[in-house]
Amino acid sequence: MSDEIQVFDMEQRTFAPPADFAGAALANDRSLYEEAEADFEAFWARQARELLTWNTDFDTTLEWDLPYAKWFLGGKLNMTYNCLDRHVEAGKGDKVAYHWEGEPGDKRTITYQDLLTEVCKFANVLKSKGLEKGDRVAVYMPMIPELPITMLACARIGVAHSVIFGGFSPDAITDRCEDADAKMIITADAGYRRGAPSMLKPNVDAALVDGAPTVSDVIVVNRCDTEVEMVEGRDHWWHELMADASADCPAEPMDSEQLLYLLYTSGTTAKPKGIMHTTGGYLTQVAFTHKYIFDLKPDTDVYWCAADIGWVTGHSYIVYGPLTNGCTSVMYEGTPDTPGRDRLWDIAERYGVTQLYTAPTAIRTFMKWGTEEVEKHDLSSLRVLGTVGEPINPEAWMWYHEHIGGSARPIVDTWWQTETGGHMITPMPGVTATKPGSACSTIPGVFAEVVDGDGNKVDEGGGFLTIVKPWPSMLRGIWGDDERYRETYWAKYGDRYFAGDGAKIDSDGYLWLLGRVDDVMNVSGHRISTAEIESALVDHPAVAEAAVVGAADEVTGQAIIGYVILMGTATASDELREEIRQHVSKKLGPTSRPKSVFLVDDLPKTRSGKIMRRLLKDVAEGRGLGDTTTLADASVVAAIAEGAKEASED
Ligand code: PRX
Repeated sequence: MSDEIQVFDMEQRTFAPPADFAGAALANDRSLYEEAEADFEAFWARQARELLTWNTDFDTTLEWDLPYAKWFLGGKLNMTYNCLDRHVEAGKGDKVAYHWEGEPGDKRTITYQDLLTEVCKFANVLKSKGLEKGDRVAVYMPMIPELPITMLACARIGVAHSVIFGGFSPDAITDRCEDADAKMIITADAGYRRGAPSMLKPNVDAALVDGAPTVSDVIVVNRCDTEVEMVEGRDHWWHELMADASADCPAEPMDSEQLLYLLYTSGTTAKPKGIMHTTGGYLTQVAFTHKYIFDLKPDTDVYWCAADIGWVTGHSYIVYGPLTNGCTSVMYEGTPDTPGRDRLWDIAERYGVTQLYTAPTAIRTFMKWGTEEVEKHDLSSLRVLGTVGEPINPEAWMWYHEHIGGSARPIVDTWWQTETGGHMITPMPGVTATKPGSACSTIPGVFAEVVDGDGNKVDEGGGFLTIVKPWPSMLRGIWGDDERYRETYWAKYGDRYFAGDGAKIDSDGYLWLLGRVDDVMNVSGHRISTAEIESALVDHPAVAEAAVVGAADEVTGQAIIGYVILMGTATASDELREEIRQHVSKKLGPTSRPKSVFLVDDLPKTRSGKIMRRLLKDVAEGRGLGDTTTLADASVVAAIAEGAKEASED
């Protein structure tokens, strides 16, 4: 980990909440903050009771056995009762849960009643295949309504889902299924991407050839009508199983700490971590933040989180938060450029979207495409704009503000992580005066501090972000790896949660997130481990050694750059370079494919043999080389820099 924090000149413009917005906002003063500061446990207990329906009230708000938290003990609830049944019972069965837009122009409108019926049926299908409370299943699906139906059906009967992003490879599926001992995979033949089917089922087949022996059933949705092979006895069509399933599946009350899901995320080693989330605490924070950070008015709003459910953003803010709050959402299968570059704005206009939640990398892409695409559409229905996934640069923030928000809508820049489950640092749209590029401050009930390398609190200046009190939606651990949980998050600063991010606190107490300080890259908002890419690179038979860095990139935030030493038997060529890039894509999936691979004779190493990634990053970003005195052989890096210069001049 680098101890250096790059601190940039901060933006000082501030934008107060627009007066008309604040006047009608759910929160427009500091009372929630004050209440939480006075007694954060009592604050969260109140939210849990007001936002959720419990079958049995809890008796203990928090049991904190550092580093393990349990929230709302003694309480019993059913996740899907909160997401579905209670809205239907309240006479809102006909309310639209999702306006779903499929890529080749398909559309489906799914009401709360529809969703409840399908979830009950699929929960019965899962039961009929022998799944029981406490089991784990893997889900590898495109952005179709069957995906939230699957997640909710699992939650209804206490089966934990492990959603695997559709861009991941067979190896990634095998690893995740083996780590969790998954009993089943739910998938689709394919999903649409840029107008054409992108295959999924063959990846599942490949994953199961020699691996994941615990998987005994595969259920396949027929999304694109492509030819797929069905293995007798193992593979079943979704529509055939659903045709006979009963829609009667009572919502069984579960303990507040019932495991809800695993979601694998990259860390500093090659093996992804299975982040564990449970029921009551997770749902409380997700419902609270979804309501207050987006100023949700469920009777009139049409909310849209344009993320993929394969990531935590989709879990919390496409599925669990919006459904618990009973709102109408848009769900979109495709990409922002198909059929046209105004696709998002077209959808936003047609449905009268009121909240849009997207990532800085998407905003930078829209900036590149130009304002004409936006100007074709009336976006006046928008009320709140959100961003997530990486630091937003002030230029992108201003563009979002001016061109999407008509200079009159609050922006909520939300900092959080797979591990935190829900928003942690973000403005409150009717309360906080925002500064472009700053995520501003912690939400009510969450407490963060910036510390220096020795763990001392920094009142103003740069350092490392830590969270100082437990929060309801915090991870409950890493599946099967207690030691790694303690080591990753709790070893560095004792009783503080170490997030892995650099941060700066300014003289007004505003927080500025500065990106990861460990060997984790952030590419288009996706967390990718340098170690994972390095091990995929050295897996290629021609590669002897590899080092990977994330270099600054105008659109994707960071780009993956690989430096590779070839085996003595291999001959360098452009074809081989390309083959090595594709090898990573095959091993890990296309999101992990390096933007460039440089073939080098040597790598810069310290005298103790550690690769100096900082220097490789300097080279990749075209900076001067600075101090190389700790290197075993300083000429190495000069040779690499020369090679990189030549390659970029090609
Ligand atoms: O570095 C931070 C960055 O994304 C990391 C978490 O990634 P992941 O677990 O994949 O979750 C992404 C979606 C919640 C963080 O450690 N990050 C996320 N949001 C922001 C951010 N960095 C700066 N500003 C943000 N708003």
